[in-house]
Amino acid sequence: MNNSPIGIYDSGLGGLTVWREVRRALPGESIVYLGDGKHCPYGSRPREEIARLADRAVAALVDRGCKMIVVACNTATAAAIDLLREKYAPMPIVGMEPAVKPACIATRSGVVGVLATERSLDGALFRRTAARYGEGIEVVAVPGTGFVELVESDRESTPEAEACVRRAVAPMLRAGADQIVLGCTHYPFLLSLIERVVAGHDVSIIDPSPAVARRVVQLLDRFDLRAEPGRRADLSFLTFADESYRLRLEQKAMASLG
Ligand code: DGL
Repeated sequence: MNNSPIGIYDSGLGGLTVWREVRRALPGESIVYLGDGKHCPYGSRPREEIARLADRAVAALVDRGCKMIVVACNTATAAAIDLLREKYAPMPIVGMEPAVKPACIATRSGVVGVLATERSLDGALFRRTAARYGEGIEVVAVPGTGFVELVESDRESTPEAEACVRRAVAPMLRAGADQIVLGCTHYPFLLSLIERVVAGHDVSIIDPSPAVARRVVQLLDRFDLRAEPGRRADLSFLTFADESYRLRLEQKAMASLG
């Protein structure tokens, strides 16, 4: 038993899509969410800079006494997960896996689309995963240019957002993709828009966040880290930006629980 919080980190608001799933799966666990905010978006920054930012964020969560860390950011996972696991061992650190495997298993057309940030798509983690599971399958990877900025500025339901999504998804639909993987934790906030854009195309959208929450549950059990039953879970929010950003994190998180 361990009543310390689980730490969840992202460049900004995106990791709240993972926070929501962890919260639903583990209502008895305290969670500290850190949304950097000051350096968001990470997606086209140099890998070394992202690794430094991720290290600083994980150090802040470790300082808060977290018992486990979830790097709820595909870009930071791609840039730094090995370094973080080594530096903070034996702390269990869960990263984001691009959900290429379930998409490759589910595809009937043999074409899978992957939306992610520039830095995630040119990283070794994505290349390895695509090579491992994508044999004989065409993987159409497209950066979600502008997606993170749209989510960060609450412009998910604007004509501009629709134009951005149409532009990114068009090459996938042209190639005959029947699975589209959301490879960035900000993108599920654009889910209803993406669904509208692909309507009539028989496409499934894959959001890996429920699978990440299942992994967190598994690791809590494996390391015997569950909180004592009956304790009140504490939910807190941190940022490297300002207090108004911290409040936005909190409000968006609570609104996401529905
Ligand atoms: N939410 C992040 C991800 O999953 C990063 C987005 C960004 O800051 O560019 O990749």
